[in-house]
Amino acid sequence: MKNPTTNNIYWHDSFVTKNDRHQLYGHKSCVLWFTGLSGSGKSTLANAVNQRLFEKQISSYVLDGDNIRHGLNADLGFSPEDRQENIRRIGEVSKLFVDNGTIVLTAFVSPYQEDRLLAREMVEREEFIEIYVKCSLQECENRDPKGLYKRARKGEIAEFTGISAPYEEPANPELTICTDETSIEASVEQIVDYLVEKQIILF
Ligand code: ADX
Repeated sequence: MKNPTTNNIYWHDSFVTKNDRHQLYGHKSCVLWFTGLSGSGKSTLANAVNQRLFEKQISSYVLDGDNIRHGLNADLGFSPEDRQENIRRIGEVSKLFVDNGTIVLTAFVSPYQEDRLLAREMVEREEFIEIYVKCSLQECENRDPKGLYKRARKGEIAEFTGISAPYEEPANPELTICTDETSIEASVEQIVDYLVEKQIILF
């Protein structure tokens, strides 16, 4: 969304750089972008990874679709345009967290490839780690933790991802976690190992 007043707004550089913060914290920062169907386990996994990082004294923070939609994005619904704006704002907020030296974990359905690409392009190439939280629609429907699939099947919720709105699978995610086959513990391990391998964290 172009701001018509940006012509009169100037960027103010900070004296404290991202690199300075990395030195202070002893780790680098990045976005762990969890994407997948509602009920696939994005929030559960993001929070479990967050807890593990906290135990390692790493600065991290979870941005969760259901929570953010109560505040910052309370004005948005589920049309393709609103979802795009949802993801754009989260991409921008994530970029700020990364600049702050924090590992930010985002748990949003983010069903459109194009919107995820937009968020990816907001940060440096190695700073965006897309994690496809893969789970069959059938399993998500069986879990139905909020009873939303049942309501969507009855036609009570319009444009519900997987039922009456699309989910575009990531073509090239950095990681894929199959939550109907892998335990939370093993999934956390896989993600933390990836961060170590990429030297974002040291151990
Ligand atoms: S996104 O598509 O814009 O990324 P987001 O992750 O913020 O979605 O919100 C998804 C959550 O909102 C779901 O987990 C579910 O609890 C709830 N929800 C309510 N209506 C819908 C809908 N029509 N489609 C998908 N999720 C919905």
